[in-house]
Amino acid sequence: MNFPMFPVLVVALWMAMPREAQPASSSYNEAWRPRFHFTPERNWMNDPNGLVFFEGEYHLFYQYNPFGDRWGHMSWGHSVSRDLVRWEHLPVALPETNAVMAFSGSAVVDHQNTSGFGAPGKPPLVAIYTAHHTDRPLQNQFIAFSTDRGRTWTPYAGNPVLDIGEADFRDPKVFWHEPTGRWIMTVAWPKERKVRFYASPNLKEWSHLSDFGPAGSVQGIWECPDLFPLRVEGGERNEQAWVLIVNVGSGAPAGGSGCQYFVGRFDGSRFLRSPTPGSNRSGPPLWADFGRDFYAAVSWSDIPQRDGRRLWLGWMSNWEYAQDVPTAPWRSAMTVPRELHLRSTPVGLRLVQQPARELESLRIRGASRSLRRATVTEANEWLDEARFPEGLADLTVAFQPARAAARYGLAIRTGTNEVTTLLADPETGHLQLDRRRSGTTDFHESFPGVFQAPFRLDRGRWSVRVLVDTSSIEIFVNGGEVALTSLIFPKAGSSDLHFGILGNDHVAKITSLETHALSRSWP
Ligand code: FRU
Repeated sequence: MNFPMFPVLVVALWMAMPREAQPASSSYNEAWRPRFHFTPERNWMNDPNGLVFFEGEYHLFYQYNPFGDRWGHMSWGHSVSRDLVRWEHLPVALPETNAVMAFSGSAVVDHQNTSGFGAPGKPPLVAIYTAHHTDRPLQNQFIAFSTDRGRTWTPYAGNPVLDIGEADFRDPKVFWHEPTGRWIMTVAWPKERKVRFYASPNLKEWSHLSDFGPAGSVQGIWECPDLFPLRVEGGERNEQAWVLIVNVGSGAPAGGSGCQYFVGRFDGSRFLRSPTPGSNRSGPPLWADFGRDFYAAVSWSDIPQRDGRRLWLGWMSNWEYAQDVPTAPWRSAMTVPRELHLRSTPVGLRLVQQPARELESLRIRGASRSLRRATVTEANEWLDEARFPEGLADLTVAFQPARAAARYGLAIRTGTNEVTTLLADPETGHLQLDRRRSGTTDFHESFPGVFQAPFRLDRGRWSVRVLVDTSSIEIFVNGGEVALTSLIFPKAGSSDLHFGILGNDHVAKITSLETHALSRSWP
């Protein structure tokens, strides 16, 4: 997003306001309150920040306005979970201070106490974030530390730790690079469409290594980068490549903000993008998600080696309408945590993502069913007998299309005059998610629409997993090769699921179907 400088008067008025965040406790029963997606109890949220695992807890910090339900007074909200599913809210971790908002950033466990903020055997947590100065056009990088499992934070007295005098320079993501024995920071230079890499021995002194970009999608400003190695699914043992994540403020496939990525190598100083197989050009931009509501996605730091997963989540909204979505007293949710891999495809290595397996703990016992080889009519009769309390569902279906040109797929959260459809169009080879009649759509002119994602048949079949909550749908095609995330605001009673087909039963067969009713993750 572009940030107007706050006039001094507004800052002065705000300084006179109460300094406490006051979350009145919520029943989590409000209309459209997600039942298993993370939301703050009240007020505005955007990007996930400081995702880090430490002493059995997954930390989720986030861009938060403690004082209102629109963007402003940016601070780091805070929540922890032991299972990535059930979250406990904690007080604001990094509040806005005089003329400095705490913008996006990351957190790491400083195992070797390189910063000196901890003690031997007692590693500190260190947050690295952008200070957005409201009294002058400047963004620079600050650090803060915690020695009590993230419960309280102390800003470093020597801040800033990195300053290049730029108005737009933000969202540092830091990791420990074992081969060179130092910290690496990936940070966005938004208007230049560049990501910069810096190195540090101690998180306090940073030296510039290299820049990447402009490349890929350059229409929108570049924000919230991330850089990590990923294993190749089914590849040789230890086969891996590096993924550079770059979120873009506009120009994403579904319109507005979105998340692109690059695959390549990181040699400890620079990121080198892999050439596209069969071409000496770099190919079109790669997108992590084809829906309209996946932004600022970044990954968890310090997941233990014995677990070995790369987990991330994104902000489930779009800067085009995020401040207008019709929810109260909170605004915005995160996607579910997802596990990442790389998959080798004919066009090169591609990101695949699947809901973290911990979400299976939401499946209601005795409310999971499966069916093999059925016509669409049979599958619908079978679905009619399924019960999905509050419309919450986790469904996986595999289709075997016939050589017919008709569209077929799923009708989700259907009710009187309301439906969201996910249809496969064999003619274009695309999936189409249509939310024009999904429920309340008139709060912003750019909300309703039809969004497309490519998909391919694998030995004549394809499959899709759909997670349905009260105000969102997350779609994972072919084991996560394509993801599509979409907000919807249907009536509570619009809770049915069906297979839809334009044509007849011969257009596509269902080779397998599995459904799970889900419980809430909030008490
Ligand atoms: C991305 C972003 C970041 C910035 C933060 C401010 O959504 O614009 O670049 O740090 O939000 O809230």
